[in-house]
Amino acid sequence: MSEPRRQILVTSALPYANGPIHIGHLVEYIQTDIWVRFQRLLGHHCRYVCADDAHGTPIMLKARSEGIEPEALIARVSQEHQADFAGFHIGFDHYHSTHSDENRRLATLIYQRLRDAGHIARRTIRQAYDPVAEMFLPDRFIKGSCPRCGAEEQYGDSCEQCGATYSPTDLKNPVSAISGATPVERDSEHLFFRLGDFEAMLRDWTRAGHLQREIANKLDEWFRAGLNDWDISRDAPYFGFEIPDAPGKYFYVWLDAPIGYMASFDALCQKEPALDFDSWWGPGSGAELYHFIGKDIAYFHTLFWPAMLKGAGFRQPSAVFCHGFLTVNGQKMSKSRGTFIKARTWLDHLDPEYLRYYFAAKLGAGVDDIDLNLDDFIARVNSDLVGKFVNIASRCAGFIEKRFEGRLSERLAEPQLYADFVAAGERIATLYEGREYAQAMREIMQLADRANQYIDERKPWAAIKEADRLGEVHEVCTVGLNLFRVLNTWLKPVLPELGARAERFLNAGSADWQALATPLTGHSVGRWEPLLTRVEPKAVEALLADAKESLAPTGTPAPAQPAIAPIAETITIDDFAKVDLRVARIARAEAVEGADKLLRLTLDLGGEQRTVFAGIKSAYDPADLEGRLTVMVANLAPRKMKFGLSEGMVLAAGPGGKELFILSPDSGAQPGMRIK
Ligand code: 2FM
Ligand code: ZN
Repeated sequence: MSEPRRQILVTSALPYANGPIHIGHLVEYIQTDIWVRFQRLLGHHCRYVCADDAHGTPIMLKARSEGIEPEALIARVSQEHQADFAGFHIGFDHYHSTHSDENRRLATLIYQRLRDAGHIARRTIRQAYDPVAEMFLPDRFIKGSCPRCGAEEQYGDSCEQCGATYSPTDLKNPVSAISGATPVERDSEHLFFRLGDFEAMLRDWTRAGHLQREIANKLDEWFRAGLNDWDISRDAPYFGFEIPDAPGKYFYVWLDAPIGYMASFDALCQKEPALDFDSWWGPGSGAELYHFIGKDIAYFHTLFWPAMLKGAGFRQPSAVFCHGFLTVNGQKMSKSRGTFIKARTWLDHLDPEYLRYYFAAKLGAGVDDIDLNLDDFIARVNSDLVGKFVNIASRCAGFIEKRFEGRLSERLAEPQLYADFVAAGERIATLYEGREYAQAMREIMQLADRANQYIDERKPWAAIKEADRLGEVHEVCTVGLNLFRVLNTWLKPVLPELGARAERFLNAGSADWQALATPLTGHSVGRWEPLLTRVEPKAVEALLADAKESLAPTGTPAPAQPAIAPIAETITIDDFAKVDLRVARIARAEAVEGADKLLRLTLDLGGEQRTVFAGIKSAYDPADLEGRLTVMVANLAPRKMKFGLSEGMVLAAGPGGKELFILSPDSGAQPGMRIK
């Protein structure tokens, strides 16, 4: 246990800044946090950084749909993510954003170094373009019928029905998921990272013990398929960093995302001047670097990322650790079953450490998926943590407090038993180091069984009734609490809060692996308070019910709006061009006698006046409308209504009632302007 002090930098994947943290994400953050806490407990210099992954089309569109700037969206989501992580005791040293000065500087630097070394190519490619939204469409934003099985509403890269993979141009009846328009093909020059330049280096690196066996095998497949150039640019509009020598083009989100690991560490170096960036990231660094990720993003982290680092003169990762996905009750997390559980919803109902323990009890070093079976979860946490572990202390603490003035005996009665426990620490450490947490938890719980068995055999509750056996009770309970302390120390990476409560009771400071060599004797413990309550099945039921209700896709309260209605049948650009939309000023607005829903609007089109009856009375007081600009269909055939002739239509959105919103152009628009 007396290794030299290692310098270890650890990262977890950067969550996208457009949605809440859910329990699927938490598998990784909990797995990583346990490892980091373990390394620190061994006395190593271990730093843990992360950040929000803030760029890309989905984030740009999400901000647009909320009517806010992307910067406002990512600032809000960052707060939510950090609060959720703190709730689960994820102990980052620093949490950053990929939309930061540090990341811009490093992404630019890495790009320039790659370019100057000849690893960047430029070529023109054809891509799907949305003529209405005026943007190129990522594959995931094109929908249509599967070219193989005909299933409708499939994305542009693969069919969820038959599993076929294809390119968006193969889809039948493709439509843009953004505007509903039929995509057209357009040329654009893109920048490519020449991954093939690094093939020899990558072949060596991937076989040098940096990867799990399953992932190394997958890489062999990728090598056989050939390493293609990687498209690292995207055209405007895009939320990201503009490429310095390619105006109007932006780094693809996946280019600057892993650089976010470096940027976060760079920001940490600014907070702590004693940390030297180059000695952790420079080519000859003696530090270790580990990335914890999900198996779905292995390609980025095991090929592109080491190659980028190499090409730009930085060190490579010491290892990339992949984990599997989470299922709940044996199935994919599902909103309708209520098993799509956000971190926040969990925290509203259950102790985060229950989940930390359960994940630890399931996680191994491989890439297998893990299942959260909720019945098993309740049984496991109650049996292991409450019934076995905490029980050791609660059986002994009362006697020590009431009969021995809270003081442990002067000698440890079972030195061999205690030594056996401490000796197991080496194996537990090996299991933690190798991310074999499930095995570590099994071995810790076997020792908890042994401690309970020892107390069962010595029956302090019977001995306490015999005056001449008081000394024996004192010794048994002292041994029990010392065994508890050993187990508590080993569980602290998984259960930091429970561990801290136990240490407050033990009153001997914070123990690390080394401290266990000396047992506590002749020592006063603190007041006993129950350390952990059982998981109540009712709380789990309430969690699932709540999860079902809170389906809003962000961690913010659900906006008061219905689900988006299905996009209507596709029209051509020519169809659309027939609609003459004009900016109009509402010159007069008045209620219509005998009509519940209608307002009579007199619209000024910059010289021409129109009368339009609009069904917006439930949402607007006529006086508030006068003077406002809005948008009207100016070439709609006039319609004879009960109250008069309506000469056009005003555009409004919303389901009806008070929830109706007339469209308003930006300031600067003038009555009569045509909208195109
Ligand atoms: O897959 C994802 O959720 C990405 N946001 C992970 C990025 S990890 C790293 F490369 F930044
Ligand atoms: Zn199909």
